[in-house]
Amino acid sequence: MQKVVDSDVLIIGSPTYYYDVGGHLKNFIDRSYSLYHDRNLAGRKGVAVAVHASKGADRTIQTIVGFLNTREFVSLGSVTGVGYEKGDLLKDQRAIADARKVGDKILRILKPNRD
Ligand SMILES: Cc1cc2nc3c(=O)[nH]c(=O)nc-3n(C[C@H](O)[C@H](O)[C@H](O)COP(=O)(O)O)c2cc1C
Repeated sequence: MQKVVDSDVLIIGSPTYYYDVGGHLKNFIDRSYSLYHDRNLAGRKGVAVAVHASKGADRTIQTIVGFLNTREFVSLGSVTGVGYEKGDLLKDQRAIADARKVGDKILRILKPNRD
């Protein structure tokens, strides 16, 4: 939790399990409730990432974005892609393009004066 509080940008991702986030991430989301009460996370930047074999990543993203929204993060976007066999994601051109877009936004935040 302290690492989350100290972060500039929180990239939060999960495989899709039964059309939603995996249990570890759900536990993290649920147990972070105390941070919300202190408004510790308001205004921080967040990115949602999900992989799936074939379907369900949209709801995985919805769950993560729901967490980011209720904790008052500013969303920098989301990335979904096919990640089943090793190397799948690198063949997913849309996912790569979306990841580049979000990556550029993160770089602009972390290194505002770069060329
Ligand atoms: C328990 C379980 C449930 C899954 N449910 C889905 C699903 O609903 N839709 C889908 O497209 N892929 C599903 N998958 C495939 C995973 O999203 C995919 O293989 C992912 O890369 C697994 O990540 P991991 O190796 O970190 O567990 C499921 C895999 C597991 C193990």
